[in-house]
Amino acid sequence: MKDILTAPFITEMRETTANMYRQGWDERNGGNISYLLEEKEVAEYLDLNKVIRTIPTGFDASGLIGKIFIVTGTGKYFKNVDKDPETNLGIVRIAKDGTTAELLWGYKDGGKFTSEFPAHMMSHMARLKVDPEHRVVMHSHPTYTIAMNTVCSTDEKEFTHKLWQSNTECIVVFPDGVGVLPCMVCGTNEIGEATAEKMKKFRLVVWTNHGIYGTGKTMDEAFGLIETVEKTAQIYMLSLGHVVNVIPDEILKGLADLWGLTPLEGVLKV
Ligand code: 13P
Ligand code: ZN
Repeated sequence: MKDILTAPFITEMRETTANMYRQGWDERNGGNISYLLEEKEVAEYLDLNKVIRTIPTGFDASGLIGKIFIVTGTGKYFKNVDKDPETNLGIVRIAKDGTTAELLWGYKDGGKFTSEFPAHMMSHMARLKVDPEHRVVMHSHPTYTIAMNTVCSTDEKEFTHKLWQSNTECIVVFPDGVGVLPCMVCGTNEIGEATAEKMKKFRLVVWTNHGIYGTGKTMDEAFGLIETVEKTAQIYMLSLGHVVNVIPDEILKGLADLWGLTPLEGVLKV
């Protein structure tokens, strides 16, 4: 059996959490990541018959039975993952009953997965139906994105339009737009279900006054989506009250046509 600390998926989790912390997106224990792993890649490092303990999830994840995820721990700080992955991360498998997680590694201090586990698992189920290669759900608290929530409506077409109008990269990176949920109580099955409903259509979902979810086939894709929204939200907030120029809808359509992309319907007026 190989040393798990040499596994590429552990390295990715260490690097990504450190990077997100450096961006200023994940204060204290803010943010969480779950990453769907291949059973055979995990089997190189862990005995899959050895369950350390079981943890009830409190919701039905039948669509993910047998699937293995590496997940950040609840209350754990992103800035600490790199120096102590075994305490701050865990590897769990969804058990046959669909409502229990089997801990295979990690959460060494007796901890458990993020309080946003419902939103993560329900989002994985939704995204896997759209894209069988989907792997990553990433949640974060980027400053300018949350600031934008205080001055923008929660209408997702309007929100998407404001981002597209502020930076030409946006329509190319997320032509499918950004889903927006109103302010809700987080850490619940309800916000999980609402997020997963949005994930049927969007790879990005904003939680008003809280943060954002990005998803993708890879860590880079999920990170890059959030990074593009956050940079653009910064541009939006820096120029608020002084705007004399936004990207016209004709140009946005031109960009979509150039890249062969279908923009979210009902946003552009051309
Ligand atoms: P956890 O520490 O439980 O992951 O919660 C952080 C967070 O971002 C809640 O939305
Ligand atoms: Zn959060």
